[in-house]
Amino acid sequence: MPDSFGSSLSNPTFFDPPIERRGSDSVKWTKYASSEQDVIGAWVADMDLPTADEIINAIKTRLDERVFGYTVAPDAFIPLLQEQMQRKYAWRVESDWFVVQPGVVPSLFFASNCLGKPGDGVMAARPNYHYFLETAHYTDRVYQPVDCHSANDRWEMDFQQMADTISPQTKTFLLCNPFNPLGRVLDQQELETIASLCLKTGTMICADEIHADLVLDQDKQHIPIASLDPEIERQSITLFSAAKAYNLPGIGGLSLAIIPDPDIRAAFQKRAYGVATHSGALAYAATISAYRDCEYWLQETIAYLRGNRDYLEAEIAAIQGLSMNHVEATFLAWINVENSGLEDPFDTFLKHGVALSAGNEMGSSAHLRLNFGCHRSTLEEIVKRMRQALSS
Ligand SMILES: Cc1ncc(COP(=O)(O)O)c(C=O)c1O
Repeated sequence: MPDSFGSSLSNPTFFDPPIERRGSDSVKWTKYASSEQDVIGAWVADMDLPTADEIINAIKTRLDERVFGYTVAPDAFIPLLQEQMQRKYAWRVESDWFVVQPGVVPSLFFASNCLGKPGDGVMAARPNYHYFLETAHYTDRVYQPVDCHSANDRWEMDFQQMADTISPQTKTFLLCNPFNPLGRVLDQQELETIASLCLKTGTMICADEIHADLVLDQDKQHIPIASLDPEIERQSITLFSAAKAYNLPGIGGLSLAIIPDPDIRAAFQKRAYGVATHSGALAYAATISAYRDCEYWLQETIAYLRGNRDYLEAEIAAIQGLSMNHVEATFLAWINVENSGLEDPFDTFLKHGVALSAGNEMGSSAHLRLNFGCHRSTLEEIVKRMRQALSS
């Protein structure tokens, strides 16, 4: 049924009643908690929404076994992932291309470390999820930025800058798609431009596609860059996990790297050896249930987030001094605060009870990132407090 923001929100009460997160040891709600003031956590990228009952039951069933020794991937796991890739993206992934990893972020570092040598280039868009800006430094490489600009209500990468600065010494291109914090899902043309520039210089693409299942616009689709053609497939590492879309980051420790080239795969695994921990039985149970049983839940969640997004975009457009581009994917809004008149926008909103992410950590001091993966009533309270902060 269409809600007042034009979304097709199939069940606006799907996540009722809201779950109290205060006092729950949530990173998002604890970091800025204070005895003097109530603070809503709207920063780190997890959702306040409960995961699917099927996932909770799968975890309970595994708990009933009562023994928690080291575990291997259940037989059903890799075929299920292959089926997902085929069904969602018409991408045929061989079973031996999958490398199970505890988290997506460590894989960015393993990728950079296994490609080239210290002093080589690691290219990534800016602004970006902060690890993309830091990977070069922590792996003794040189960061090569590609700046993003706002045009026609969306963020676009400066492909001229990319063409001018990429070289055979650029060993890794770190791609974040769908794009945290810019809310884009890159279209085929943009992906082809990135792919062709990387093919020319022999630059490997390490694509973090953890937000792939969270495309909110009904006329858009996530395309894994590796699925464009066999040449780019061989020159790619694709990272994903069920943690974002099914809200499982607290279960911990299960992501996938898809690495078609056997030599790169071996080099990557060597970097991870002894560093990456084993994935756990509960994470396997949750991920299998997510992909096997929970498509309906995902669709409800996307519809709910779309409603939140539409509400937030309408509110921000009506607040003088704030602006944002349309969010095509993710539950993250990148809000421009440079005309807010506030000396320290992050601190001012915090003092009024809203903890956002500081944009300078992601490459822009003119922005703050707002996480709208919460109950609608929480989002309404966030907006109310932000209005109060601006008018005080
Ligand atoms: C683009 C992106 N990659 C990776 C992560 C974290 O992944 P993991 O917890 O699997 O390391 C996040 C979380 O915010 C993210 O937004």
